Amino acid sequence: MDQNHKRDEQSDLFAGFSAAYKSFATEAIHIGQEPEQWKSMAVVPPISLSTTFKQLEPGNHVGYEYSRSGNPTRNCLEKAVAALDGGKYCIAVASGLAATVTITHLLKNGDGIVCMDDVYGGTNRYFQRIAAEVGLEVSFADCTKPELLKAALKANTKLVWIETPTNPTMKVVDIKVCSEVVHEHNKDTVVVVDNTFMSAYFQRPLALGADICMYSATKYMNGHSDVVMGLASMNRDDLYERLKFLQNALGCVSSPFDCFLVNRGLKTLHLRMERHFKNAMAAAKFLEADPRVERVLFPGLPSHPQHEVMKRQCTGCPGMITFYIKGKLEHANAFLSNLKLFAIAESLGGYESLAEHPAIMTHASVPEKERIVLGISDTLIRLSVGLEDEEDIIEDLKQALAAAHPKTK
Ligand SMILES: Cc1ncc(COP(=O)(O)O)c(C=O)c1O
Repeated sequence: MDQNHKRDEQSDLFAGFSAAYKSFATEAIHIGQEPEQWKSMAVVPPISLSTTFKQLEPGNHVGYEYSRSGNPTRNCLEKAVAALDGGKYCIAVASGLAATVTITHLLKNGDGIVCMDDVYGGTNRYFQRIAAEVGLEVSFADCTKPELLKAALKANTKLVWIETPTNPTMKVVDIKVCSEVVHEHNKDTVVVVDNTFMSAYFQRPLALGADICMYSATKYMNGHSDVVMGLASMNRDDLYERLKFLQNALGCVSSPFDCFLVNRGLKTLHLRMERHFKNAMAAAKFLEADPRVERVLFPGLPSHPQHEVMKRQCTGCPGMITFYIKGKLEHANAFLSNLKLFAIAESLGGYESLAEHPAIMTHASVPEKERIVLGISDTLIRLSVGLEDEEDIIEDLKQALAAAHPKTK
């Protein structure tokens, strides 16, 4: 059902985007949360701290043995996320990177990974400095050009890692086209989409042909900047069986308290994402019109190179904006240091506005030569636009730009 009519007051904002997913809010609030599963009939899933569970006789238990292999609070979260991703299964792990590591353990020595060229710095570091050193063959390709992805696929390619939009240069990859290219090459090659920037509310990679949809749930999925967690959803039974095994066997599990918090965060995901989009669109338009700004990269703007792909495959845009300030490093520094409402901090996707300098902060681990090729320069600034009042966000950007470029009005 087309639910765009429910977004009447914001119809301009969502015009041209894919229709919202049916019953998203209802599922976020109810799936996996059924009070009947508890003797107490608790409406809010309890935080189950017990590490171990009583067995009726040796080997005869009611579904739980030991909290690493299964936990009731984690189960509630995993069921909710699977539904929100339009998937059958989900696993929750200790961090986004723990999800990346757990998924990469699907491979064995000699297997190949093709990774989008612009990805989160920690993903790049893990693939280049750890996975490559333990016998996996890692290469990078600009997946915004499917022909380059096709050329990078080899007989041993078992995993293709896509991030869209990319962190930090906001390149948008056509998930459907890339999944088809990979699966035509080898139907068993696992296509993973890092959906961190989008959240389940704005993008469903599984419906577009990906095999796994993963998140740093530390960001929008939790949305309150108080949990580090990773999630991976899927439909394929064989992948779930192996990843469920790896979740326990590698032991990168998330704590019950964190599962409770992320599950709570999901209940307002739809409301938060719409407000992030509204505030980010206003900020992006303001920046694009400002003479002190060289270029704005926001996929919601028609000026973004993959704006059409974004509209086709997503139901909206998150609060992430990157832009190049005119001048040099000193201007970027002055802008960042003069922000009052935005905090200079790593991470993103929380209710509060954050700003950072990727070359010095989040992407310092990407080798300098690669940073230059990718456009992660000294004047690139990344914003995570929060849920504050739109006018206050714009006012803060305006005064920080004025401080960075006092002579330009
Ligand atoms: C796009 C993306 N993927 C993965 C990660 C890693 O997640 P975590 O920090 O939860 O380990 C991050 C962290 O910033 C990220 O931005």
